[in-house]
Amino acid sequence: SPGTRYEAENATVFQGVVESNHAGFSGTGFVNGDNVAGGYVEWTVNGTAGAATLRIRYANGTTANRPATIAVNGATVAANQPFNGTGAWSTWATATLPISLNAGANTVRITANTANGNPNLDYIEV
Ligand code: GCU
Ligand code: CA
Repeated sequence: SPGTRYEAENATVFQGVVESNHAGFSGTGFVNGDNVAGGYVEWTVNGTAGAATLRIRYANGTTANRPATIAVNGATVAANQPFNGTGAWSTWATATLPISLNAGANTVRITANTANGNPNLDYIEV
């Protein structure tokens, strides 16, 4: 199953803004992270204890990878998750990775590793 969708525009944004100027997003927009390392989007998601799949919808209209650190409940689960170019800012792709959740509230944070910042982030599903 695709899980539950959590829009980036409803999450906590550090160093970024919600925008809607590139088509194809879900909900009312996406997060355009500032082009700096350390900017992040953090979601609070509801979980059942155990293994889960994290899906991250993003766009990267450049040709340069924008790697990020993915943390669940403060623990890094991917130190260098690639977000490669998708061909256009209006072309969205999904990155998938396995995670483990606690029962109830969990945090998922995507933090830009490089000075290029995060890709544009549309939503996560868990
Ligand atoms: C452009 C684009 C933004 C994107 C930014 C970037 O300004 O319109 O949506 O976030 O490039 O390079 O990060
Ligand atoms: Ca940006």
